[in-house]
Amino acid sequence: MAFTIKKSWSDALVFGLSVFLIFCLIFESYIELPSLVGWLGNWHPLILHFPIVLLVLAVYVNLVKKKISRHLLTLATLTALITAVTGFFLSLGANNKGDILFWHQWLGSGLALITALWYWLDGQKLGQHILVKILQVLIVVATVFAGHYGGMITHGEDFLALPSGNSLDKIPKDPIIYDHIITRIVDEKCASCHNPNKQKGEYIMTSLKDLIKGGKTGKAIDLEHPDKSELLRRLHLPKEDEEHMPPSEKKQLTSIEIELIEEWIRLDASDTLKLHHLKSDEPLVALVNTFIRPDATITWRKLPEVDNTILENLSSDYLTVKRLANGTDALSLNMYAPPQYSEHMITGLTPIAQNIIELDLSGLPIAEKEMAFIGTCINLEKLEIDRTQVNDSTVTQLKALNKLKILKIFDTAISDTSIAVFKDLQSLEKIFIKDTRITNQGVLELQNTRPSLNITYTIDEELVSYFIKDSVSEVISEKK
Ligand code: HEC
Repeated sequence: MAFTIKKSWSDALVFGLSVFLIFCLIFESYIELPSLVGWLGNWHPLILHFPIVLLVLAVYVNLVKKKISRHLLTLATLTALITAVTGFFLSLGANNKGDILFWHQWLGSGLALITALWYWLDGQKLGQHILVKILQVLIVVATVFAGHYGGMITHGEDFLALPSGNSLDKIPKDPIIYDHIITRIVDEKCASCHNPNKQKGEYIMTSLKDLIKGGKTGKAIDLEHPDKSELLRRLHLPKEDEEHMPPSEKKQLTSIEIELIEEWIRLDASDTLKLHHLKSDEPLVALVNTFIRPDATITWRKLPEVDNTILENLSSDYLTVKRLANGTDALSLNMYAPPQYSEHMITGLTPIAQNIIELDLSGLPIAEKEMAFIGTCINLEKLEIDRTQVNDSTVTQLKALNKLKILKIFDTAISDTSIAVFKDLQSLEKIFIKDTRITNQGVLELQNTRPSLNITYTIDEELVSYFIKDSVSEVISEKK
């Protein structure tokens, strides 16, 4: 087979660009870019559309018409090579290439070089050779994957992922603040521009270390002076400001999200901190509650309004009253035993009874009137009446509490008679009945009617349910 070498400007250009591209790939780590070349790299996202269209068109024409126009192939080859070279320039700006960029680069460069090979074979009148068919298949496959990885770089890794429904479902009841809350916000609103493949401002936000370390202006999170953190400064800048993050055309953080990040940084930006480690009056608690329970806060919006002055008047050394989330009328009350207790301390709360979502009366000498009051707090979700005088007869007042989820009633005189009341509390998820007169038999009966109910029999919550299951199964096996 005799090869004829027709000299033309396009052959020379294709050859020159191919050699240059190979050179770039081999000597990548030694290349230092002058800024003009870096600027050329910015054209990559625009230019890349041409070879995609032209290559698919060329393969298609070759398939149906057999003979492909030399002009079309020349154009496809040149744009593919130029795209690869500009892409290479662009990638030099990233100082730490992630996997995605790595694959995108090699697929893209490979694609351009295979196209150049096709161009050359076609010039040798081998356009119908089986080898060319194979190259065409490779070209189509590489185009699809290079394009896909490229999309991941510009739009974030899961830009083609199906909408995942309400992803808040996956947040556990006792979330790790960093893992379950902060990364969620960052992934949704920041990481598309600040990840190992796309490091705007040389800033990566996908690991805690990098998140703190910051980008080209240095530390993003200042643990010694949290308020001076660059990250917070950017979030708080007016949206019109160029340095505001995320950039104004992107989905913005809600005020709750900003406060969450702020409070989390104030508490040392830890990656082990869990919700239950926090004191209940720590602002982060209410913020997390609002964030993970948007449904709850929506129902809370329907509660009767309570004025701040009412709350201030109620609060005393023995009673803390606070709103469960910013802007809602849902209240959490915690009462401590005063030197002189009177039932009026509790029954006097009647005006806000419907607003009480959480009530902690642990250790107080509550009797019939107080229990009757509790029965009118129909929106209660969490009630703590452990170490009180509650008994089988007063416990029946709880029957109306069909929103009650958590009940702490340990160390009281209740017995198996009360089980009937607990069985009927439809929303109940967790009950603490250690140190009561409830027998194994009673626990078993409750667990059988309400299999998903978490029954706590000893103080250590985690051991407890395990223990209960064990003792329950022992009871069962004894019976057999
Ligand atoms: C659409 C892309 C985009 C998104 C989304 C985005 N950023 Fe940025 N970010 C940039 C660009 C571009 C820069 C560099 C220009 C500058 O400094 O303003 C930058 C720079 C920064 C810097 C300064 C880094 C340094 O050291 O110079 C911080 C901090 C930052 N972003 C935080 C965030 C946070 C927090 C979010 C999410 C709430 C976010 N960014 C979302 C594009 C983005």
